[in-house]
Amino acid sequence: MPRQILVTSALPYANGPLHLGHIIEAVQTDVWVRFQKMQGNDCLYVCAEDTHGTPIMIKAQTEGVTPEALIARVAEEHRADYRDFLIGHDHFHSTHSDENRYFTDLMFERLNAAGHITRRSVRQAYDETAGMFLPDRYVRGTCPTCKTPDQYGDSCEACGATYTPADLLEPKSTISGTPPVWRESEHLFFALGHFDAMLREWVASGSLQPAVRAKLEEWFAAGLQDWDISRDAPYFGFGIPGHPGKYFYVWFDAPIGYLGSFKALCARVGLDMSHYLKADSPTELHHFIGKDISYFHTLFWPAVLHGSGFRRPTAVHVHGFLTINGQKMSKSRGTFITARRYLEHLPPEPLRYYFAAKLGPGVDDIDLSLEDFTARVNSDLVGKLVNIASRCAGFVARAGGRLATSLPEPELHTEFASAAPRIAALYEGRDYSQAIREIMQLADRANQYVDARKPWALARDPAQAEAALAVATQGINLFRVLMLYLAPVLPQMACKAAAFLGTPLARWNEVDAPLLGTVLASYEPLATRLELKSVAALVAQPATPAAAAAGVAPPTAPSTTPATASSKAAAPKITSEPDVIGIDDFTKVQLRIAEVLAASTVEGSDKLLKLTLGLGDTQRTVFSGIRKSYSPESLVGKRVVLVANLAPRKMRFGVSEGMVLCATDENDRVYLLTADDGAAGGMPIS
Ligand code: MSP
Ligand code: ZN
Repeated sequence: MPRQILVTSALPYANGPLHLGHIIEAVQTDVWVRFQKMQGNDCLYVCAEDTHGTPIMIKAQTEGVTPEALIARVAEEHRADYRDFLIGHDHFHSTHSDENRYFTDLMFERLNAAGHITRRSVRQAYDETAGMFLPDRYVRGTCPTCKTPDQYGDSCEACGATYTPADLLEPKSTISGTPPVWRESEHLFFALGHFDAMLREWVASGSLQPAVRAKLEEWFAAGLQDWDISRDAPYFGFGIPGHPGKYFYVWFDAPIGYLGSFKALCARVGLDMSHYLKADSPTELHHFIGKDISYFHTLFWPAVLHGSGFRRPTAVHVHGFLTINGQKMSKSRGTFITARRYLEHLPPEPLRYYFAAKLGPGVDDIDLSLEDFTARVNSDLVGKLVNIASRCAGFVARAGGRLATSLPEPELHTEFASAAPRIAALYEGRDYSQAIREIMQLADRANQYVDARKPWALARDPAQAEAALAVATQGINLFRVLMLYLAPVLPQMACKAAAFLGTPLARWNEVDAPLLGTVLASYEPLATRLELKSVAALVAQPATPAAAAAGVAPPTAPSTTPATASSKAAAPKITSEPDVIGIDDFTKVQLRIAEVLAASTVEGSDKLLKLTLGLGDTQRTVFSGIRKSYSPESLVGKRVVLVANLAPRKMRFGVSEGMVLCATDENDRVYLLTADDGAAGGMPIS
């Protein structure tokens, strides 16, 4: 019996673009879903826009549009992004929909009838100018603990203290800038504590990763608190039936949006939804989410489902956060890579592959290192996988395009095919990185086979033509098995390979029988190498008029990036065309040789080194952004090239008196320019 599985990814907020953090989650989910479908399971994947709440309401106001118009526009962008990353949602809906309202009302009614909803008065910051209650994040002020100004109403970024907006000194509304007043209002609460025993039992049933389970044990120990599920008007959301002026908090109806989306799918394809939802359903329900939202998915959501008489999730799969080049994505560093920006530069499958190669079953963060990404994709996909097919295709073509009718080494094929259950178990357990490792080991074996049998040598001798075809047939079949194993990750490539092979790559059990005696289509390249240049351009800032080759800072560069070289070193930056300058401009630049007398790191900066330079009779301090490329020790004693007549620039860390030159090579590696021993005798040139 095929398993019946409903799968979800977290619903993206409809107030901003998708970024690569959203995409890694979508890829993790999509690979799992495609894998399940290849197993022959009935697997359905739904998602939706998360449309309600204060941020979306405010954003729409700021843009002067209705929230409905805002979410419609963003939803279109999100859909296009998911589509272009080959994310195969069976349905993509919206929480601002009739289906979602239906389930939200129904579940609230049932929870209320069963006595799980309580009421209590809450004192909250109120903006009299804007005429609205303020969520904690919309109040800023001075931290009561460490006195750092301009902190959020819930916690201090400087000292980590947590508090309520009422504790802030000199609080201000971020909406109107006026000090808030404190007002009472009645709120509705979901009595999470009623579900303590049920949740403990659910957790013990083994649906969660060990790290997530440990976190839940902590939450249980701390005691489960009532959850405030109502908000006062004005609010963009669903009004609470029977409570005029009250709205459901966005996090109440957001997970219900999974069901709303599924309801729309069921109506579209004629499925019986109650079969999936009933308390004792034999179907499975799997949620894929990031670690920041596990409280909602492992406590509130199972409790809300159970309290409304529905089934609980089979599993909640939590992943870590995506970092870029080892750091949190950041707009100011240019590493906030939107899905669209990526797609404007590169095709989706290399990133799908890289994410899969990095994703394990745990909650660890995942790093996208752009260099590693480039190297890995080129080596694995182009150098190993596609190489097998491209090396063998020609010998089959020469034989009229028809494969041999038997394999010269059937046991080698069996060895490849017999990895299927092991690789399947790894996909099932979301250990994609291990699956990829095993697949690539097989790819190495396949290449070794071709290397050892040398079909190109055989083909030189007409008497050996059949032997060459036999080797190529074996190679093509090994490739076919590998491509099948990778099909959940590389669905487009699998389609192209299927067209080449003239047979589908759609079911896991297709590995068993080799492809023999059939005609291949003509071979078209299945993947091309990534250029580090295009990859590096993902994190490029909007082009500045920098003289990129020489690393000369434009006088207009913002003071936080004192040297072009600094931003280059941190994040290789490609500017399309260096501005052309005339010789008159160039001769204004005074270059001097200087010796590095001392070098040290700069407290509070991960990019800069502080250099003390000797120029014969004077010393200068220069801040240079080469910390990523050079250790301070390695620089001492080097003779470097200094732009001596650059206007001093005041920076956060001190004054920089000039600039040290760096240049980049074709791979965008940064080189500090150093001097040779000098012209004969070191005589002055004039
Ligand atoms: N709208 C809520 C989810 C509601 S689900 C009923 C939300 N939206 S979100 O847009 O902020 O995040 C959507 C998903 O993307 C979450 O699972 C979140 O963990 C994930 N990620 C957001 N940034 C991420 C990274 N940098 N890395 C990996 N995943 C990240 O939360
Ligand atoms: Zn503080």
